Amino acid sequence: MVEVLSNPASTRKLYIESYGCAMNFSDSEIIASIMSEHGFSTTNEELEADVIFLNTCAIRDNAEQRIRDRLKHLRSNKKQNSDLIIGVLGCMAERLKDKLLEEEKLVDVVAGPDSYRELPKLVAEVDDGGRAINVLLSREETYGDLNPVRLNSNGVTAFISIMRGCDNMCSFCVVPFTRGRERSRDPESIVKEAKELQTAGYKEIILLGQNVDSYLWFGGGPKKEFKTLTAEEQETSVDFADLLELCALAVPNMRIRYSTSHPRDINEKVVHVMAKYINICKYIHLPAQSGNSRVLEIMNRNYTREWYMDKINMIRSIIPNCGISCDIIAGFCTETEEEHQDTLSLIEWAEFEFSYMYKYSERPGTPAAKKLTDDIPEAVKGRRLQEIIDLQNAVSKRKHEALIGQTVTVLIEGASKKSKDDWMGRNDQNNVTVFPCEHYQKGDLVEVLVERATVTTLIGKAIGKVS
Ligand code: SAH
Ligand code: SF4
Ligand code: F3S
Repeated sequence: MVEVLSNPASTRKLYIESYGCAMNFSDSEIIASIMSEHGFSTTNEELEADVIFLNTCAIRDNAEQRIRDRLKHLRSNKKQNSDLIIGVLGCMAERLKDKLLEEEKLVDVVAGPDSYRELPKLVAEVDDGGRAINVLLSREETYGDLNPVRLNSNGVTAFISIMRGCDNMCSFCVVPFTRGRERSRDPESIVKEAKELQTAGYKEIILLGQNVDSYLWFGGGPKKEFKTLTAEEQETSVDFADLLELCALAVPNMRIRYSTSHPRDINEKVVHVMAKYINICKYIHLPAQSGNSRVLEIMNRNYTREWYMDKINMIRSIIPNCGISCDIIAGFCTETEEEHQDTLSLIEWAEFEFSYMYKYSERPGTPAAKKLTDDIPEAVKGRRLQEIIDLQNAVSKRKHEALIGQTVTVLIEGASKKSKDDWMGRNDQNNVTVFPCEHYQKGDLVEVLVERATVTTLIGKAIGKVS
């Protein structure tokens, strides 16, 4: 047994680098919280760190390649400071497990997404001269009781994890293997965290889960379907629409966003709650992955092209100006040119605000890797991806240009990347908007008159604060 010393006075410095999706960035805040209880304070200077954690992503091969390159660079840090402890955390750690210790001699700690409470113990084992690993996945862990330490925050927007894991088994996806079974977090702890953020001056929360529409609280533990709950559990259960409403009422002065929705599960109840509350942003990230029903079937997405289109029609019939964005995979196994054309026509039809677009990358151990052949040549994948990107860019530009002359409501997040004289924020539909700072302040909600538009950005002038 290793004794863990909890001595906040002995501040060792922890540097955390996060990769991948918002859930990973949110996890890093939980990691910082756990470590701070054991005498570690976070630093933004990697050279002064005693411990460096890379919180990694495994979604595509290039995500893992980036980590391997990063580890190569960290060799020189270790040369300068032989006591430096290097940990690989998150999804790549979970996927590779002890192989990572074998392959990367530099790495001292390997920890999967459900073992972060053990991190102080793992670091203590390394202090004692060993190397340490914990990649056990849990069916209950939600870290719901912890107070995340907000890292690199703009002080305006904060993530709140509402669930963990995923039970969906989309055939291309590694997430069910790296994050384990789906489980929802106690709504009381979510609302408490939202209220604390409001008190701390934050203006916006983003509720996070891999499939928020299947959020269901019935007392804790692995996911269950509503219909399998007892009558009493059904009575007291909280689904995603209920949770959204609880949050909208608990923090009426904060904006609320969420991600990610699943086309199979999003329902009218959720969209009606969005329509009812002015502080819930009118924006839905609804990944289609493909516009062709055969491809969707072998992706195991559990919906067809027509089902997806019906969901978009449903959303727009309730919230006509709802912003909708998408994820697309180009060149999935056996995809034909005609099937690729179906993806293009879906983008044109759906008029997504924007999309995240990727080439298919086979992940070892996934159902697609086991049962299907990754048979689309790299050059064809690349060309299809480029066609998707070009079309989405044209759609985004057209949608943005349609807003010229209109006013949009923008929450100021911070300085624009290009000029410190301009603010950057997002409107309700999640369109990035830039305008001269004038006397406005970070965190203000302002009306902006849109004067120009690019593929990615609305550019305008503030005309007043929303009171
Ligand atoms: N839970 C979310 C997505 C999480 S992963 C959902 O269901 O939509 C984020 C995105 O990465 C996915 O939407 C998908 O477009 C992409 N992705 C996942 N696995 C991939 C793979 N093997 N190759 C390429 N892109 C992938
Ligand atoms: Fe992956 Fe599908 Fe789960 Fe999203 S819903 S995380 S794509 S398995
Ligand atoms: Fe990557 Fe894990 Fe998120 S694989 S996308 S960091 S859930």
